[in-house]
Amino acid sequence: MRGLTIATACWIACGFLLAFRQSTSAQEGSGSSRSSPQRATRPMTPDEFYQSFWKHLNKQENPYKKWGSLPGRKDIRAGTTPHGEFLRIYANKIAIDDPKGLPYGSILVTENYGADQETLKDITVMYRSKGAAPQQGDWYWLKYQPDGTIARTPEKEGKKAIAGKVTSCIECHSKAGGKDLVYSNDPEKEANEK
Ligand code: HEC
Repeated sequence: MRGLTIATACWIACGFLLAFRQSTSAQEGSGSSRSSPQRATRPMTPDEFYQSFWKHLNKQENPYKKWGSLPGRKDIRAGTTPHGEFLRIYANKIAIDDPKGLPYGSILVTENYGADQETLKDITVMYRSKGAAPQQGDWYWLKYQPDGTIARTPEKEGKKAIAGKVTSCIECHSKAGGKDLVYSNDPEKEANEK
């Protein structure tokens, strides 16, 4: 039963980006194709993908807020820019079961808080999906506002959605130990458990 749940969760998680990528490549080839009568096969727009992924993170049966964390990282902790002054890290079951390997389907979420440790400023997400970014650990990056809409770059930078292969995220995270672009599975002096 447990195995089934995990398998299902993996299928859902792994399937997401795949479905999205297939739909965008279909879009490229077909221009403004309205010809497909089936709603289910209509290409997912990027915005629809961000929203469906947000729904996945917050689905009633298993919202990210009820996930555990990586070893030693479950409490709210001091953060650094561009994360909040405080942050809380969540990891899905696939990640928790193998924090060093972080297999495909792993999802890591940080809630970024202000100095009062209560004001949620934004939510940053890493989702490991095959083919997302083969040169950079295959992570797909997302930044959401607290209301679940995708964060965007300032007007003068084109209001681009902060999602996908986000250079700023990748540049900094490349300095994490273990060459996996993840900080929270590296040892740290203050870690309160092993
Ligand atoms: C200037 C460096 C820097 C930048 C830029 C940055 N991060 Fe991070 N990020 C960190 C550090 C350091 C941690 C570990 C925080 C801790 O454990 O206290 C972290 C942690 C995380 C985590 C938890 C997993 C991990 O690696 O520990 C996620 C998810 C995350 N960041 C997403 C993002 C996203 C998405 C972006 C881009 C929108 C981004 N980060 C940009 C430094 C950065």
